[in-house]
Amino acid sequence: MYFYGTTGVNKQGNLEIGGVDAIELADKYGTPLYVYDVALIRERARGFRQTFLDQGMKAQVAYASKAFSTIAMIQLAEEEGLSLDVVSGGELYTAITAGFPTERIHFHGNNKSRDELIMALDHGIGCIVVDNFYELDLLKTLCLEKNTTIKILLRVTPGIEAHTHDYILTGQEDSKFGFDLQNGQAESALKEALRSECLEVLGLHCHIGSQIFETTGFLLATQKIFEKMNRWKNEISFEAKVLNLGGGFGIRYTKEDEPIRPSQYVDEIIKEVKKWIQIYEMNLPEIWIEPGRSLVGDAGITLYRVGSQKEVPNVRKYLAVDGGMSDNIRPALYQAKYEAVLANKPLEKPTETVSIAGKCCESGDMLIWDLPLPAQGQEDILAVFCTGAYGYSMANNYNRIPRPPVVFVENGQDRIVVKRESYEDLVRLDLSLK
Ligand code: LLP
Repeated sequence: MYFYGTTGVNKQGNLEIGGVDAIELADKYGTPLYVYDVALIRERARGFRQTFLDQGMKAQVAYASKAFSTIAMIQLAEEEGLSLDVVSGGELYTAITAGFPTERIHFHGNNKSRDELIMALDHGIGCIVVDNFYELDLLKTLCLEKNTTIKILLRVTPGIEAHTHDYILTGQEDSKFGFDLQNGQAESALKEALRSECLEVLGLHCHIGSQIFETTGFLLATQKIFEKMNRWKNEISFEAKVLNLGGGFGIRYTKEDEPIRPSQYVDEIIKEVKKWIQIYEMNLPEIWIEPGRSLVGDAGITLYRVGSQKEVPNVRKYLAVDGGMSDNIRPALYQAKYEAVLANKPLEKPTETVSIAGKCCESGDMLIWDLPLPAQGQEDILAVFCTGAYGYSMANNYNRIPRPPVVFVENGQDRIVVKRESYEDLVRLDLSLK
């Protein structure tokens, strides 16, 4: 069994997270339940920041809050000195409500609305990552209307194909994101932005994809960006103060995954940047990164109560839990794989292979295919590992299933940070015909 962070087995033989018994958590808060190992999130955050410090680099590590955006998580990010990447008015609102320093917020998105941009300008956020010509125009108009200025990065698409699932690829030429670096769009956008008095161009942004296990894509993207930046330095005297290389660092979900250490991505990126600034005789830009999954992914565990079973003779055994694609849509959407144990007997030897079904009315609602488990009893608690990123944040109310609560655990203490949705919450926005 592979345990993450502070996860282990306690004297009672139960799974323990952050010094708290998982079975006690399930009994206290009910299931399904998202549990986060706060110490592990802190360790990851410090790891990224320390790597830049060790190299004497000016940097910002911006937590990509799309991975898991709640007030408590954003306050934790602030405690750890992270910056924040938001991609919508809702994520921005969450950050503002959490009291996150707005000058450390970076606003992303390929179709930011007028209202969202106004919200960002009114709250004095640190920088807007401009994605397209439409947004460039809109932002200039709004700044003129409000007689204000704003710092921006231009999001460029370097034409890199990272090795990951098609839906989470973003750096390739045929992408809905960013200004293409090769076909001249990025250059036109840069010239247009530099002509505007209300936009302060800090530099460039690029994000090549998510759940990436090698550094090649990052290094290639860096190289392509520097080739262009060298041209821009010589032809239009533009030098970037900031180079944001996005997130996407892969994590281990199952034994098939072999990620490299987070610091290794950063180390190699820094080396590559230093190489190109020497070759092209440029000033060293600040490096920003935007990890989401690699900060919170393996810190999250979902606890479910085991329910019905169905045996299809000579085919398989289905074991159903009290959640599913409503709290974790990743298996259904990306064929994502997970590992799990019975939290009340995590070390017991598996005796059979079962497939974990969700409770949604959809055959595709399977959480794990072919999971080795010991004999299961009524009411056993199944703990699914590594659900911390894009689990809660992609949760939904399919079949009008209420979203589970979120609990933070650290140093033997548990603390609820998102309440369980109630049936009343589900109909709160509905209007009656009667
Ligand atoms: N920066 C930008 C511009 C991004 O688009 C993303 C992720 C990140 C940073 C953070 O990437 P991370 O470090 O978390 O890999 N829902 C999918 C993942 C979509 C990622 C979208 N963008 C999943 O569950 O795998």
